[in-house]
Amino acid sequence: MATAGKVIKCKAAVAWEPNKPLVIEEIEVAPPRANEVRIKIVATAVCHTDLHHLFENTNEECFPVVLGHEAAGIVESVGPGVTEYQPGDKVIPLFISQCRECHFCKSPKTNQCEKAWVGRNNVLSTPDARLTCKGKKLLQFTGTSTFSEYTVVNQMAVAKIDPAAPLDKVCLLGCGICTGYGAAVNTAKVEPGSTCAVFGLGAVGLAAVMGCKAAGAKRIIAVDINPEKSEKATVFGATDFVNPKDHSKPISQVLSEMTNGGVDFSLECVGNVEVMRSALESCVQGWGVSVIVGWTDKEDFSARPVQLIAGRTWKGSAFGGFKGRDAVPQMVKAYLDKKVMVDEFITHNMTLDKVNDAIELMKHGKCIRTVMTVSPQ
Ligand SMILES: NC(=O)c1ccc[n+]([C@@H]2O[C@H](COP(=O)([O-])OP(=O)(O)OC[C@H]3O[C@@H](n4cnc5c(N)ncnc54)[C@H](O)[C@@H]3O)[C@@H](O)[C@H]2O)c1
Ligand SMILES: [Zn+2]
Ligand SMILES: [Zn+2]
Repeated sequence: MATAGKVIKCKAAVAWEPNKPLVIEEIEVAPPRANEVRIKIVATAVCHTDLHHLFENTNEECFPVVLGHEAAGIVESVGPGVTEYQPGDKVIPLFISQCRECHFCKSPKTNQCEKAWVGRNNVLSTPDARLTCKGKKLLQFTGTSTFSEYTVVNQMAVAKIDPAAPLDKVCLLGCGICTGYGAAVNTAKVEPGSTCAVFGLGAVGLAAVMGCKAAGAKRIIAVDINPEKSEKATVFGATDFVNPKDHSKPISQVLSEMTNGGVDFSLECVGNVEVMRSALESCVQGWGVSVIVGWTDKEDFSARPVQLIAGRTWKGSAFGGFKGRDAVPQMVKAYLDKKVMVDEFITHNMTLDKVNDAIELMKHGKCIRTVMTVSPQ
């Protein structure tokens, strides 16, 4: 390719500081170094974790940053030592790497990877940045930075997908859908005939509903304070919808009464410590399993120890427990084989220039996923 080995100048949405709109800038993207892959991003979506970083992380050290981590693109060039990926390959960047060598990667028990990008507060900060703008180094959010026409990612964090996959759809498998679906299937290990509750019906929660259904749950109670989410939940398999605002009793009590003592599995897909507690308390004693999927690192959670002593299990899940390089291509295949839904999550389409509109839509609960076209395919 004509651009291989050269710095690429391209458009990206830069978050210069917390709580401010992103600015479309011309940035420089360095050529990939050893074990790195430079990707032309074709489509990217906004996930609530991007909003979390922009609005709730006031640490100035985490800016300027290029946000975005749910995307799909095409390999533009590769650095020395990269043999698995070639220019032209369709890929999905991963915010949790899979080096295939560390003790986590070698264990079937987890999708954590020791060699993941290193950094604090969800940002990759290398001494010499791959992305720069106006002479300033740009941090890479979760090691990916997909709100950019081009980005550079370590090969451990790249999943090669079926060339037949439509990138403007399967980009959602880079985070939200795999996260929710896997939390139900891999982490909660939802059982056939069980009763489940899913708190929070964004893409993550709706994908959890879809996962509960795929695992054979007979009753799936969808919980959200936004009544507009009810209809969508049904599309993915919810059998009931409960709005905590419609009840004066605690939501855990409402669910307990609906289910004769509590649900078998609950999934928190909001990122609110009070909701995490409610989700745990909504589980039946004896064997109830509650999974935390929502993201927050601002507050501690609390619960009465007796909740766990009585036989409940409290777990957390990152990226649905999926080992990305292996599982994301399989999820893309499952979508192409019509075994998982993806299109149904997309409520809005726009171009990267409109990224602030996409952020506002999510902030106000007006979208499930907004897919932004970044570069032509
Ligand atoms: N663990 C992971 O790997 C991972 C990956 C992706 C996203 N996340 C996190 O998952 C969460 C959901 O992400 P999303 O993109 O689907 O977000 P979203 O904003 O689209 O959806 C959140 C939903 O929660 C609902 N909600 C808010 N307060 C509630 C309450 N008190 N009770 C019930 N529902 C409530 C909102 O109305 C909304 O429908 C976020 O915290 C995000 O950071 C975690
Ligand atoms: Zn995400
Ligand atoms: Zn590893």
